Amino acid sequence: MAGEGKTGKTKVLQEETRIFEPPKELVENSNVMKYMKKKGIKTEKELRETCSKNYIEFWDEMAKEYVDWFEPYSKVMDDSDMPYFKWFTGGLVNMTHNAVDRHAKGAKKDKIAYIWVPEPTDQATQKITYGELAKEVNKFANGLKSLGVKKGDRVSLYMPMIPQLPIAMLAIAKIGAIHSIVFSGFSAKGFGDRVKDCEAKVAITTDGFYRRGKPMPLKANADEAIADAPSVEHLIVFKRTGIDVNWKEGRDIWWHDLVKGKPEECEAEKLDPEHRLFILYTSGTTGKPKGIEHAQGGYCVGPAQTLHWVFDLKEDDVWWCTADIGWITGHSYIVYGPLCLGVTGIMYEGSPDFPDFGRWWKLIQDHKVTVLYTAPTAIRMFMKQGAEWPAKYDLSSLRLLGSVGEPINPEAWMWYREHIGGGKLQIMDTWWQTETGTFICSPLPITPLKPGSCTFPLPGFNTTIYDELGNEVPLGEGGNIVNETPWPSMLRAFYGDKERYHKEYWEMYWETPKRGTYLAGDKATRDKDGYFWIQGRIDDVLSVAGHRIANAEVESAIVAHPNAAEAAVIGKPDEIKGESIVAFVILNVGVDPSPELSKDVITHVRKTLGPVAAPTEVHFVNDLPKTRSGKIMRRVVKAKALGNPTGDTSALANPEAVEGIPLIV
Ligand code: PRX
Repeated sequence: MAGEGKTGKTKVLQEETRIFEPPKELVENSNVMKYMKKKGIKTEKELRETCSKNYIEFWDEMAKEYVDWFEPYSKVMDDSDMPYFKWFTGGLVNMTHNAVDRHAKGAKKDKIAYIWVPEPTDQATQKITYGELAKEVNKFANGLKSLGVKKGDRVSLYMPMIPQLPIAMLAIAKIGAIHSIVFSGFSAKGFGDRVKDCEAKVAITTDGFYRRGKPMPLKANADEAIADAPSVEHLIVFKRTGIDVNWKEGRDIWWHDLVKGKPEECEAEKLDPEHRLFILYTSGTTGKPKGIEHAQGGYCVGPAQTLHWVFDLKEDDVWWCTADIGWITGHSYIVYGPLCLGVTGIMYEGSPDFPDFGRWWKLIQDHKVTVLYTAPTAIRMFMKQGAEWPAKYDLSSLRLLGSVGEPINPEAWMWYREHIGGGKLQIMDTWWQTETGTFICSPLPITPLKPGSCTFPLPGFNTTIYDELGNEVPLGEGGNIVNETPWPSMLRAFYGDKERYHKEYWEMYWETPKRGTYLAGDKATRDKDGYFWIQGRIDDVLSVAGHRIANAEVESAIVAHPNAAEAAVIGKPDEIKGESIVAFVILNVGVDPSPELSKDVITHVRKTLGPVAAPTEVHFVNDLPKTRSGKIMRRVVKAKALGNPTGDTSALANPEAVEGIPLIV
């Protein structure tokens, strides 16, 4: 869609001309239209512009509408210590009170919060009401307290998609502790590094999990991870599969023993809105993952409000976000957003292809799912399997679709609308990040869509595109996507690293008149109608099946292999995953390259970082192009390997190394 321009700017080369107008009925009955009517707002443009211009008043209004405060706040936003913005100063709040207690004590007590679908097809689906959820959360919260977990303590979670995961999160939040979830597909080392970084007092895992109907071990990984994490006093283990586990007396405790006899009531801590709700690690430009911190107050507002407006959830909707709770999408849109709204959500434990490619579509049919939110990588996988899979099932309960994680290519967008959306459903392509906590650019049910565009910044966000100097680029051009003003669900800091937080997101425009502008780290363009088109990351971060993985992290895992001396990792376009990981490796002197060694390097990364980060190809080279200061120029490696022009190579100390990079396409 775009080509390189001067000064890092990009130009739109080819424009999408198809427009999909929203059906009148959707528009008329939408939550957002109700708001517009109340405020006398006539057009979508006016809505987006007014709310964003008056963003303080807007978020104040939303915070009052969506959140129960124990104590009202006296100041909406405090920017006296930029970039450490504070929201809802003076208030007192608790996420779990908002997500569970107020429903459990009110009219929604018997409403289903989660329909949980286990992976093995011979296990029964579980329906959990808000009332039941409250009891489970309270018992577990009391269990945590009995282990000495207190306000501010960190608790690391390493669990599959089972109801005990949100139960644990909500219990932790209720007592003012801070959760740090690590995707259970990460390796022992991946989990261990994160446990150590946040100095967790307690860790929670399961004996095992199911993959393709078979039990697989998980506790063994957790054992390895925390063996050298001195901060961890206890490991709580939920029995999911019944497989054998090793047991460390005094440290390990079964979930069912911990909650036995614990009271079903537990008072929520009344917390400062800035009190941290969670830490979630994501990849940045260096090998070390960043512990992104989010705050209780802002999080009570953002996920619920954006979900209500964008996906238009109503009382009788059945919402299904297919993400794993280990990623931000699951935090915001499987747990906090839907629960704060008091809606019914699906939680599915397994993969999309077990026992066959009809599993998701059967699930939609069986549970009459009305709104589906998934990722382009899943859509492309289903496309490849053929439309006959969804065609076997009745998907007529669906009324709205969504996409997240990476740009959705127009072909996949059209297939999604056609074969899942019956040729008529609108697709909400939501652009956002771990750091933003909620959707930032997204259609609303009233928005005319262009396939592949996340359309416009949502009301309340001042999102635009800058050149390197902090000038807004005109329509038709591209640059860095930025937020000019703060928002309630924004990241607050990195755990234990103030400097890096400032450097990564705020430094870029700090010395310009735009001080306080957030640099998202993505490139984007806007077409002549102002539609946003996300082009990908500015930094060296790969996007594999919608997951952010730092090139540097994979490289550092590779060079930890005893035979590897140096490595450069690049992303190769992949039909389904968006990008696949390809590594170029210099071996130690005297080591001969071989296909076995290549496999061994892949296995090594898989073990070190987990399967998501494993390269699909390893190429052995004699040299890698480097700058005079010794930095490997990945850009040049990538261009050569993909058969593209290598551009300016004058900074290279060893230009001859470029020739040794094989063509991989
Ligand atoms: O590059 C953007 C891409 O995913 C990055 C954020 O990754 P993460 O923090 O793991 O969160 C993923 C789920 C929100 C962004 O910087 N991205 C996410 N959604 C989209 C997207 N790129 C294009 N279109 C999207 N809808």
